[in-house]
Amino acid sequence: MKQWVLTVWMTVCLLCLAACAGTSGQNPVPSGEQAPSSTVTSAAGETSQAPSDEPSVITSDSSEDDRAPASTPITPESPEPSSGNTRDTVVVYFSATGTTKGVAERIASVTNADLFEIVPVQPYSAADLDWNDPNSRTSLETNDPSVRPAIANGTVRLENYTTVYLGYPIWWGDAPRIMSTFVETHRFDGMTVIPFCTSGGSGIGRSGSNLASQAGSGHWLGGDRLRDSISEDEIQNWVNSLH
Ligand SMILES: Cc1cc2nc3c(=O)[nH]c(=O)nc-3n(C[C@H](O)[C@H](O)[C@H](O)COP(=O)(O)O)c2cc1C
Repeated sequence: MKQWVLTVWMTVCLLCLAACAGTSGQNPVPSGEQAPSSTVTSAAGETSQAPSDEPSVITSDSSEDDRAPASTPITPESPEPSSGNTRDTVVVYFSATGTTKGVAERIASVTNADLFEIVPVQPYSAADLDWNDPNSRTSLETNDPSVRPAIANGTVRLENYTTVYLGYPIWWGDAPRIMSTFVETHRFDGMTVIPFCTSGGSGIGRSGSNLASQAGSGHWLGGDRLRDSISEDEIQNWVNSLH
């Protein structure tokens, strides 16, 4: 009888030991729980721990607490050409309806230049561009030489460039006021500035020299009106004629 009790007791002990060994080292996270956010999955499906100094990525579905406070200042992003540019030429342009943009892109292609579009904070609507309406935005801006429409995409660091092509449409025989905003907020020291424009037929007139006066720095060439259909070969000839 004693031996039988001893056998039962030993069997119970063995079963307890086996149960404890089975749970040790297991992840306590329930199987349905997501992996910790610091775990990254490679394209090959392998997983590894992200280094602790890995920048955290806040996605759009982040919880309220993950978001930056509303008062966090937004630093104006410097446009692409400003960040360690290695080219010596930049084409800067404003274009309300795309004509100057097309010419600017061809100049950048021919001259192997960086490209920077001046984007207004308030885009110009068709009504804004109605030159038949004396109260349209463009008519009012033209009639007030002190107007300086705000630029949405900040400033471009020009200091590493030696040549700046500066393009715009002709509005009422002159450059749009936003071009004045641009030249008055940038320094052109040591640079050659080449204005160019597109238009319905008017020449560049005094628009380039007006901008040069407003800029107050840089070596400004006279500039030219370029046809909207100008080819890259023609642009190359024009560029060669500048030197
Ligand atoms: C408000 C306004 C005024 C304009 N004034 C002139 C002008 O005086 N002479 C001219 O030839 N074209 C004039 N145009 C036509 C533009 O210069 C021409 O369409 C230009 O190529 C548009 O360039 P974008 O598409 O890059 O904005 C004017 C256009 C607008 C909207």
